[in-house]
Amino acid sequence: MAAVIDTGVIQTAIGSFALGIDRLRRVESAFLYDLEGGVSGDDQSSLKMLPAYIDLPTGREEGDALALDFGGTNVRARLYHLENGTASIIGEAARPLRETDRENNICRDYTTAETSPEELFDFIADIVKEAVGGNTRKNYRLGWTFSFPARQERLDHAELITWAKEISVPGVEGQDVVRLLRKALDRCGLKNVTVKAVINDTIATLIAAAYSDDKVTAATIYGTGHNTGCREMYAGESGRSAQLINLESGGFSKLMQTAYDAEVDDRSERPGTQLLEKMVSGRYLGELFTNVVAAAVRGEPGEVPPDLESRLCFTAVDMSRLLAAGTVPEQFDVLAAKLAPVLGNGFSLGRAEIAALKGLAEAICRRSARLVAATLSAVIKHNSVAGEIKPQTIAFDGSVYANMPGVAPAVRSAMDELLGEDGKKIELCSLMEGSGFGAAIAALM
Ligand code: GLC
Repeated sequence: MAAVIDTGVIQTAIGSFALGIDRLRRVESAFLYDLEGGVSGDDQSSLKMLPAYIDLPTGREEGDALALDFGGTNVRARLYHLENGTASIIGEAARPLRETDRENNICRDYTTAETSPEELFDFIADIVKEAVGGNTRKNYRLGWTFSFPARQERLDHAELITWAKEISVPGVEGQDVVRLLRKALDRCGLKNVTVKAVINDTIATLIAAAYSDDKVTAATIYGTGHNTGCREMYAGESGRSAQLINLESGGFSKLMQTAYDAEVDDRSERPGTQLLEKMVSGRYLGELFTNVVAAAVRGEPGEVPPDLESRLCFTAVDMSRLLAAGTVPEQFDVLAAKLAPVLGNGFSLGRAEIAALKGLAEAICRRSARLVAATLSAVIKHNSVAGEIKPQTIAFDGSVYANMPGVAPAVRSAMDELLGEDGKKIELCSLMEGSGFGAAIAALM
């Protein structure tokens, strides 16, 4: 007998990913507790809450600025021209950090422990050079979106606390990344580029959204990674001026993990960290799905390969294709192509398996959306003055929010469940590429 998929295992896993309103409220209050603890400097809070040394823009920032976006998947540099509240792109270059191109014999990965800081930063500086067309004479202001937790003392300085999203280049943690970039820019002849600002992608998205919407109070990255930044109102009330804060909410840890989440965490570069991120973001959703499918594959000894997970290796993109497809078996080519080698020649994907796998993808994505919604509802409540929730906008950037079927509506409906009537005052807007644009604005502020 060939190996089969035990749909019972999948149904049980689906049940374990369900997050009813009671559990959702508990997540919301635990997050609220950590937000309040983070503000008062309680070291038990799992939120780093890093101040950003910049405020929201006026919307009148104008001129040319370079935006460099480095978030873990791609490096992108864009030369923006801002005038009269509108932006145009006049130069651009982008490359992925990991690339395999068999035809042209290219295989590179700038994210691993084998990469030196110089190699990584030279790669980044080269992309900046390409975006300005190799111009080493004209002066440029550069705003940098650096999407990792960083401690700042001023806007043009950022000390990387720890890598996230499975990057493990040694010798960068604890260093001022602006200094490393500066050296690489000098090495490639770009002495004409001045790094004016370095900001987290949540802060960049918040700034980009606030450029044209004065009701924006928070921005969430919901893609490869997950994190939220907001304008912290309490800081203002206690006498200091209001600040933009990068919550590093992906590190929120007061959560109930399933055995599948624990597996993802155990196999990650840094077990025990970024627990919320590992339950919700695109970098990990596919792995969660894979773990359940691997547990559901049954067969006689020798029929099921021992390295099942690494052979299956589903991604968030596979899940989104699965969710977007209908119910006809032929539409599940990718799924079948990954399953066939591990399930043997006699394998064919039947309607029952497809329904179970679709249900699983739905359950994982729905839990992800509801967890994100609970943290956002907590941010809104935390920033309400005297319990009154003002009409406001939350901006989203990232592929999971924008492209994963069902996610955006699930965030909306969970927020409405948690906020009741006040939910109507909250607008959720998608701002793709906001994080790059925000850096250009920051460089001109
Ligand atoms: C990770 C980083 C965080 C970033 C997020 C989204 O969680 O720690 O700084 O904002 O990914 O890119």
